[in-house]
Amino acid sequence: MADPKEHNTEKYSVQRFPVVADRNDAAYSRSANWVQAVSHGFHQERRDDEYLAKTLAAYQTDQRELTGVYVTGEVPGHSLPADVPVATYATMRKSLNVGFGRTLESNLITAVTVRGTHRRNGILRGMITADLEGAKDDGLAMAALTASEGSIYGRFGFGVATFERSITVDTGPRFRFKGQPSGTVEVADPSVLLDVAPQLFARVHHLSPGSVDRQEYYRLVASGSIGQDGKPDASVRSALHYDASGTVDGYVSYRFKGWDHKPFTMEIVDLVAASNAAYLDLWRFLGSIDLIEQVTWAEAPVDDPLAWALEDPRCIESSDVRDMLWLRILDTRAALEARSFPVSGHLVLQVTDPLGLAEGTWVLESDGGAAAVVNDATGTAPDLSMDAADLASMYLGAVSPVTLAAAGRLSEHTPGSAFRAQQLFTVERPAHCLTHF
Ligand SMILES: CC(C)(COP(=O)(O)OP(=O)(O)OC[C@H]1O[C@@H](n2cnc3c(N)ncnc32)[C@H](O)[C@@H]1OP(=O)(O)O)[C@@H](O)C(=O)NCCC(=O)NCCS
Repeated sequence: MADPKEHNTEKYSVQRFPVVADRNDAAYSRSANWVQAVSHGFHQERRDDEYLAKTLAAYQTDQRELTGVYVTGEVPGHSLPADVPVATYATMRKSLNVGFGRTLESNLITAVTVRGTHRRNGILRGMITADLEGAKDDGLAMAALTASEGSIYGRFGFGVATFERSITVDTGPRFRFKGQPSGTVEVADPSVLLDVAPQLFARVHHLSPGSVDRQEYYRLVASGSIGQDGKPDASVRSALHYDASGTVDGYVSYRFKGWDHKPFTMEIVDLVAASNAAYLDLWRFLGSIDLIEQVTWAEAPVDDPLAWALEDPRCIESSDVRDMLWLRILDTRAALEARSFPVSGHLVLQVTDPLGLAEGTWVLESDGGAAAVVNDATGTAPDLSMDAADLASMYLGAVSPVTLAAAGRLSEHTPGSAFRAQQLFTVERPAHCLTHF
């Protein structure tokens, strides 16, 4: 990886390394220090040995690559030692569902922190530009992240591609469904999710545009094996949904917020449903739990069938609608060819890119189903021109090119081409990502 900035090459050294989870390995302390630095960067507590051991084991399963930036010279006496990185960054490769059952291996970026005393020195810029270039060199067409702030990543060509919201659902007397259940729900020991959760998520991942394959941590959290402090979370409960043939096709993990919390509330930890019926029946179950007056979920879809399945959609109080998945196209042609476009059409797209990775002009020819043909159209007059970040926002159909044109982010040279792009880029169900990373 390149050094953060030319003028910083003497001040900092950049190390990129695989996770070491074995405490007897001499390189373990580098990984442990890296995790402590991430906790510091996100204002979390100092981590104990149990947390470090579990976290590093999970990171190793995900084959994360860690990057640490270290001060090269002497550090002042009594300050954090030089082997604690002043900046952290990690990547792992996972698949992204790009619609119609197609997937695209993507470079997921996570754990981005720069210690406050070293901020605004170009350290993030150095780490991310080198990483994106490296991912493209490795043949990847897409990078993805979730952002702590909306103002950081647009300059690096990332665009918001999916959204989510928090909901509070009143499960009192007005919580009634229009239809009937079509399966059954049974309470299960959460530990069964260690096996069941990844299997079910694989089905859901295949069905859900915008879905990112999950990291190891998810099954541990859903099963109560690990809580925020690294210890088992005994408050986690779980229930499974069975279809008419008795096959498990959904689960929910949830926890009671306590008798001091009024109204009495159940909080969803994870809800994964591989069919529409499973999704609604799991909500029926949550709504039927005695003594509970409301259910909260912090990762609900914005376009939620629950609202349309209830007699009174106002049982759902929605708050904090927010961006979730940010995408970054690394190779425009490969990213477009990875998708399926559901209508036929012809579109010349001109893409600009502050980092030059996705830049160019391409003609997209779709016959409405089969893979599109994308050809270099350098020199051809474009129908639409946009920044790479805006193409990333359009990519999963969750942001309309018509809206982007109205915002002045996208230029429509051929009248009606933004609407044509909207039709071309639509996917079979609203894009939603259930995986935070
Ligand atoms: C966000 C963070 C990683 C930035 O690191 P940094 O090394 O200070 O960033 P850089 O110096 O490389 O800045 C690169 C550019 O981004 C801009 N920038 C950096 N952080 C920004 C922020 N939070 N909001 C707006 N712009 C930001 C800089 O002004 C600079 O712009 P320029 O190149 O156009 O001049 C760092 O402030 C941090 O650790 N924050 C707390 C943890 C966090 O939120 N991490 C992100 C998790 S998704």
